[in-house]
Amino acid sequence: MNRDWVEWHHGYDAPTSALSRRLEVVRRDLRRALGTSPTDPGGTRRLLSICAGDGRDVLPVIAEHDRRVRALLVELDPVLARRARETADDLGLPAVEVRVADAGQADTYLGVRPAHVLLACGVFGNIDDTDTRRTVAALPALLAPGGIVIWTRARGAGDTDLSLRVRALFAEHGFTELSFTSPHDARFRVGMHRLAGPVRHALAGRLFTFR
Ligand SMILES: C[S@@+](CC[C@H](N)C(=O)[O-])C[C@H]1O[C@@H](n2cnc3c(N)ncnc32)[C@H](O)[C@@H]1O
Repeated sequence: MNRDWVEWHHGYDAPTSALSRRLEVVRRDLRRALGTSPTDPGGTRRLLSICAGDGRDVLPVIAEHDRRVRALLVELDPVLARRARETADDLGLPAVEVRVADAGQADTYLGVRPAHVLLACGVFGNIDDTDTRRTVAALPALLAPGGIVIWTRARGAGDTDLSLRVRALFAEHGFTELSFTSPHDARFRVGMHRLAGPVRHALAGRLFTFR
């Protein structure tokens, strides 16, 4: 991991930054996902956030919406993971686990039960096209039937909006689009897709490596 991801999180400091605006969209979509995603027959809802950062997108929403949500946040940077753990504790969320682990490695998910809501925010812009395809293709192995994925991707600076590729991959791998937010005055994009096709059971090898 070459980049200083703690420093990257300072993009959230200014409330009007593009990152802060993106955060509001992710939180809005997450509220909707928590209200509409499936649950286990007993009513349990599981959330998985890969490359979770300091968890600021999911933790306040869980606290406000449903404190019983069982959340697993997977983050490689121990400083950010510790912040996420502290925030979860401050918010009184005992059903949140923060794991310092490689979210790009299939073994990390051994024994992890399928998620009803999965966040992949800040991932696809940092991995190449092959890994993006591999990761989207792997998501049905991490999800419960009908599970919802919230993802982000910057459009890039060129003529082609790079998030369109990610949207197409979701469509190709059995997902239905629930929403796609693409502000005309910012480069971030936020997609929300529901798994409409079958879940997968096998997950092996590497899904992605940050460039
Ligand atoms: C662009 S940030 C996004 C953080 C958070 N999801 C958000 O949107 O605020 C990418 C995060 O992925 C983490 N990361 C990079 N490679 C990872 C890996 N292989 N497994 C888990 N986390 C990773 C970084 O430490 C960083 O916190």
